[in-house]
Amino acid sequence: MAPVRQRNAKGANAAEIEKKIKRGNALRQGSSWRGSRLLVALLLVALSACGTATWLYVTSLDSDITETLVSQGELVSPQPRVYSVQCSEDYDNYKRYPGCTPQKCGRAVTDGVVTREEAQTLRRLAERGLALAGSEGGASILDLHSGALSMGKQFVNIYRYFGEQLKDVFTQEDFQLYRDVRGRIQEVIAQTFGLDPALMYLTKPTFFSRINSTAAKTQHDEYWHPHIDKVTYGSFDYTSLLYLSDYGSDFTGGRFVFMDQNGNRTVEPRAGRVSFFSSGSENLHRVEKVTWGTRYAITVSFTCDPEHAISDPALPRGIHG
Ligand SMILES: *[C@@H]1O[C@H](CO)[C@@H](O)[C@H](O)[C@H]1NC(C)=O
Ligand SMILES: *[C@@H]1O[C@H](CO)[C@@H](O)[C@H](O)[C@H]1NC(C)=O
Repeated sequence: MAPVRQRNAKGANAAEIEKKIKRGNALRQGSSWRGSRLLVALLLVALSACGTATWLYVTSLDSDITETLVSQGELVSPQPRVYSVQCSEDYDNYKRYPGCTPQKCGRAVTDGVVTREEAQTLRRLAERGLALAGSEGGASILDLHSGALSMGKQFVNIYRYFGEQLKDVFTQEDFQLYRDVRGRIQEVIAQTFGLDPALMYLTKPTFFSRINSTAAKTQHDEYWHPHIDKVTYGSFDYTSLLYLSDYGSDFTGGRFVFMDQNGNRTVEPRAGRVSFFSSGSENLHRVEKVTWGTRYAITVSFTCDPEHAISDPALPRGIHG
C-alpha cells in the first residue's frame, strides 16, 4: 500500500506542479499578450499621429486658404464694406486722369445701393432678353449697349436681328431702371475711392450674364479662369458686379473669388448686392464654376479715359415697348 500511497503522493505532487507550470505559462502568456496589446495600441497611436500630420501637411500644400469676405446671408448696408489693397503698377502703363485714375485701390461690397425688388426686375429683363437666344454652353451674355447676345457658338446683334420684336421684350421703364442703377453704382464707386463721378465713364463690355452648370462649348463660355480686368480690357479702371440672384438658393458654386498671394477671398452673390473693385493686378479674380441652378449678374465697367466711354443703352427709335 505504501508504494501506492507514495505513488499517489508523487502523483498528487506531479499534478500540482503541472498545474503550477500551466498557471505560470498562462500568466506569462497573459502578461505577454497584454504587453503586445499595449505595443500595438502605441503603434496605432503613433501611426495615426503620423497620418494626421501628413494629411495636414498635404492638404495645407494642396487646398486653398479661403476666407469669406461677405456671405449671402449678411446685409451690408447702408455703408459699403471696404477692403483696401495696394495698387499695382498696371495703371502706370496708361495715361493718368486726375480725379479718376486709381490712387487708392481695393474692393468693396454693398447691399444698400440696389434693392432686391430692383434686382428682380432686372433679372426678369435678363431672362426675357436671354430667352431670345443663348449660348450652347452654360454661359450666355446680353449686352444692351452693343446689342450683343450669345447665340449658339456665336453672338448676334439683337437690335438688328430682332428689331421690332424687341418691343414685346423690353420696356422703356426697363431701360430707365438700368440707367438709374448704373448711375448709383458709379456714385458709390466714386465715393468709396474718392473720385469725381463726372470723370468716370461707362465702358465696354458692360453686360448681363446668365450661367448654369452646362459644360462650355466654346472659349466664350469659359468664365472661370483667373484674370485681371485691366490686362484683359485695357480701358477698365473700376469693375463692378450687380448680382441678380442668390448664392445657395438660386444656384450653387459661382462665388466670386479674389485670388491673393496669401489666400483666396470670396464674395457670395446676393440679389441686389454690388461688388466693386479697382481693375488692376491687385484684384486678380475668378468666378467658381456654377454647379447647380442659374446665376444672373450684370457686369458694369468704368474707365477714366473718355475715348473709351460708351453711352447708356436706349431702345432704338420706333420701338416703344
Ligand atoms: C486659391 O484657389 C486656387 C484654386 O481656385 C488654388 O489653386 C490656390 O492654391 C488658392 N490659393 C491659396 C493661397 O490658397
Ligand atoms: C442651362 O441653360 C440652357 C439654356 O437655357 C438649357 O438649355 C440647359 O438645359 C441648362 N442646363 C442645366 C443643367 O439646367
